[in-house]
Amino acid sequence: MIFLHQEITLSWLTAAFARDGYICGEEILIPVYLALRLEKPLLISGAPGVGKTEIAKVLSRVLDTELIRLQCYEGLDENKALYEWNYQKQLLMIELSRQGCTRGEDQPDLFSEEYLLERPLLKALRHPRRPVLLIDEIDKSDQEFEAFLFEVLSDFQVSIPELGTIKARQVPVVVLTSNGDRELSDGLKRRCLFLYIDYPDVDKETRIIRSKVPEAGEVLARQVAAAVNRIRAGLDLRKKPAIAETIDWARALVLMEARALEPNLVRRTLNLLFKDQEDVETFNRELGVEELCRQVINGG
Ligand SMILES: Nc1ncnc2c1ncn2[C@@H]1O[C@H](COP(=O)(O)OP(=O)(O)OP(=O)(O)O)[C@@H](O)[C@H]1O
Ligand SMILES: [Mg+2]
Repeated sequence: MIFLHQEITLSWLTAAFARDGYICGEEILIPVYLALRLEKPLLISGAPGVGKTEIAKVLSRVLDTELIRLQCYEGLDENKALYEWNYQKQLLMIELSRQGCTRGEDQPDLFSEEYLLERPLLKALRHPRRPVLLIDEIDKSDQEFEAFLFEVLSDFQVSIPELGTIKARQVPVVVLTSNGDRELSDGLKRRCLFLYIDYPDVDKETRIIRSKVPEAGEVLARQVAAAVNRIRAGLDLRKKPAIAETIDWARALVLMEARALEPNLVRRTLNLLFKDQEDVETFNRELGVEELCRQVINGG
């Protein structure tokens, strides 16, 4: 089904996110809805693994449109993000034309569409159907790239000297994510709608577990969520367990045929929650398996 975005309502979006298994409330749905309707980029920040990237994926599924992803990294430049000329093809053409092997014109136009390599930004601008453009982990890119991006996101057009100005057929749905590795420029922030996603509370994480690991019963799901919540809140860890780790842990416990948390099981499966030996030591020193289970089971 093709959606005219003018037809999207908040209640439709709420139902679509729920159907797709993305658990959230209005704190997320309203900014997403407004970004769609106002045709503004949505800048999502938050700790690793809280579901930032997933929002772009869900949007592309519920809007039934292509997801175009630009993964940012240090050193990412316009060539990799926007377009490049296909040098090899150009060189081959020059060689062929030198040997008199080209058909038609004797001077092939080496800077025409045929030699253009489209990269994610250009692809999104020229896409026939409003795609979802995910600019993932923008905080990993350099400041110069951010400034360039800001321009693209302001006008939704780019100019390629050899081809002229290319303007978006439809403004893409743009989702930017950031883990907050560095402060983003005011210009970029001003251009975007901002959404901060925090770690979920116990209720929300229980629902996420129920949705992703339906085999986990209500009791186990709630205890897992409460345990992870307790670990995140109370300990000074290098890397707090994210939602993906919670889901993995719940899956592992289900495989171990657990119906509720129990110290021995927790001890054997802790490596699914902690990805750092120092964090395991911190956990054992400051909380420990027995105490965690006691608190979670007694709800204390
Ligand atoms: N609200 C949610 N409902 C359902 N699943 C969720 C939710 N939030 C996160 N998840 C799950 O957690 C996983 C991690 O989410 P995602 O990759 O979007 O995190 P992220 O914030 O982009 O992390 P990073 O900063 O590490 O890239 C996803 O695969 C998704 O299944
Ligand atoms: Mg991500």
